[in-house]
Amino acid sequence: MTTEKDWIKDLVIYQIYPRSFYDANGDGIGDLPGVLQKLDYLEELGINAIWFSPVYRSPNDDNGYDISGYQEIMAEFGTMEDWERLRDACKEKGIRIIMDLVVNHSSDEHPWFLASRSSRDNDKSEYYIWRDAVDGHEPNNWASAFGGSAWEYVPERDQYYFHFFSKKQPDLNWACPKLREEIHQMINWWVDKGVDGFRVDAISYLDKPQDFPDSTQPAQPDGYSFPDILAGRPGTHAYIREMNQHIYAPRNVLTVGEVSAPTVEELGNYVRTSREEFDMAIPFVPPIVEIDTWTPEKLLHDIQESYEALKEDGWWARFFSNHDKPRQVSLYGDDRAYWEVSAKFLAMFLHTLPGTPFVYQGEEIGMTNVKLPSIEDYNDLDTLNMYKQGLLAGMTPEAALARAQLISRDNARTPMQWDNSAKGGFTTGTPWLSVNPNTKEINVKAQRQDPFSIYQCYRNLIALRKKSSALARGDMAFLETGCKELIAFTRSTPGETLLMFHNFSSKEHAIPDALRKDAKKALLSSYDREGGYRGPMLRAYESVIFQM
Ligand code: GLC
Ligand code: CA
Repeated sequence: MTTEKDWIKDLVIYQIYPRSFYDANGDGIGDLPGVLQKLDYLEELGINAIWFSPVYRSPNDDNGYDISGYQEIMAEFGTMEDWERLRDACKEKGIRIIMDLVVNHSSDEHPWFLASRSSRDNDKSEYYIWRDAVDGHEPNNWASAFGGSAWEYVPERDQYYFHFFSKKQPDLNWACPKLREEIHQMINWWVDKGVDGFRVDAISYLDKPQDFPDSTQPAQPDGYSFPDILAGRPGTHAYIREMNQHIYAPRNVLTVGEVSAPTVEELGNYVRTSREEFDMAIPFVPPIVEIDTWTPEKLLHDIQESYEALKEDGWWARFFSNHDKPRQVSLYGDDRAYWEVSAKFLAMFLHTLPGTPFVYQGEEIGMTNVKLPSIEDYNDLDTLNMYKQGLLAGMTPEAALARAQLISRDNARTPMQWDNSAKGGFTTGTPWLSVNPNTKEINVKAQRQDPFSIYQCYRNLIALRKKSSALARGDMAFLETGCKELIAFTRSTPGETLLMFHNFSSKEHAIPDALRKDAKKALLSSYDREGGYRGPMLRAYESVIFQM
């Protein structure tokens, strides 16, 4: 059974990383009352959905992506009553609530795991993935995503458990029907509480090959190999489809899967309508890979390819940023010479593509990467592991630190910059992670007062999407510009056509005459501070939307 889900196509989703958004009680940690206080700000920005990174009970080995109570709120973030107040306030403003759903694994402090690990025969014994030693060693050579072996020994059972992520994140055993039933109940409980959708975390690895073969991937510096064979197995798709058919479709719940899908075909397996799995997907690319390989040409190629593949029966999550990636203006733009204009450019490019745009907190004011002075200043376990692996591979501490500064997930996790004071207006206490010193120049307060700020550019784009059916729902057609860095396309519905030019470089490029003759009225430009589009040359990171 399928229900009409067109409402998801009109969303602009704002991602909140609650730990870093706003601290209402001065303990240095962002919290739910903090979000509530800033809801007017989000309404002013114009977004109509919020994805909350996990707010559940958690010992915070991976900042909430290790859940020890699925139906409880993390004490540092507040109480269930705080969550309900926030929910009611969101409903009142017409803002949809999307919760993070982390069900590939739980915390090792979850009661299920505490029971499961206690013996081989308890009623949660099969809730996790347990294997015997092989020749006195781990069951195979699999590496954990955060370093070391993916197996951890437990004396009480004289067995190892599997953890794709850290050893405090044991994988749940989806082959166990009772476990699946518990998860379904938990999801339904949140839907009953008024949740509109879920961003489903790391969901490509649920099914495991029962022979647990060694991975043939090249070994990491510590000797273990990533089990790439786990991604996208047919059994995993079956578990996803089961959730969709039982819960998401009949209850009209939005789902965004975070998936490992290196090809368009694999992406389609999660989001083509006929598959009945997810409404849209966030394909995960390790930042270490993306930083080294991305180019405007590759980005455009991927966009074209996934557009063609899914335009008949799929939909797209559009994002440049999230809590796992470097800041977009630092990665794809130029956070120095062209900071403002390249941040606007990226926003205009993304928001003119077909699909649902995501805005990650702070992106709307052009927040940048941070360079913390020492590895001790970093919090993220992935960064700390990468640093260790770097040293093992023979890097100098300076080089390993430089790499961490470039790639670290903490780049996206420094506190939101609300004003120009030392702590960025985030907290009155000691922030859990350093505030980027550039809060002096880059902050909400300044940009709210400035008619040509990055923040205003986001407001304009979101408002335009609400008015323009071509932008929200229209087809896309690419136009040949003869230049890899000059991207041109139209978005159109029967009654309306918009024409976009995006110069994805710091060089000037001319719009070909043949394309320019159709350009009538410029609606928005990344050079609004300088009076807008001048043409025919597009300046560095100039982006312009025309009405035709
Ligand atoms: C996802 C999350 C990431 C987390 C991992 C394990 O990739 O986005 O932050 O560390 O899953 O839950
Ligand atoms: Ca707090």
